[in-house]
Amino acid sequence: MTFRFHVPNEKVPVVGSRAFLKVGDQFLVLFNVDTQLYAIDDRCPHQGASLYTGRLDGKLIQCCAHGLRFDLESGYMLNSTQFKVNSYPVEVVEDDVFIIMNSAGEQHDEC
Ligand code: FES
Repeated sequence: MTFRFHVPNEKVPVVGSRAFLKVGDQFLVLFNVDTQLYAIDDRCPHQGASLYTGRLDGKLIQCCAHGLRFDLESGYMLNSTQFKVNSYPVEVVEDDVFIIMNSAGEQHDEC
């Protein structure tokens, strides 16, 4: 079952920035890359480091801990279709931003 999390307007990042969000017991990062919004878990699927402070290159986020890179859109690690960070669809309705989430919680792949 899914639900829509309404991102408070003051938390919507401007172009080129990111915002840290707490949704229930989950921590997310919302990125604005060239006006496109992407939402992912703030937890690297490798060993759990925060991705909020990762280095952004286009829509690839590089984890600061060990350097793995993930596509913000699909969540998949670069050159992999097996290993991914949870990513969430983002809807923009006029001036409101919503993140579509699974209320049952998402599973994290382990490596
Ligand atoms: S914890 Fe992110 S690459 Fe290891």
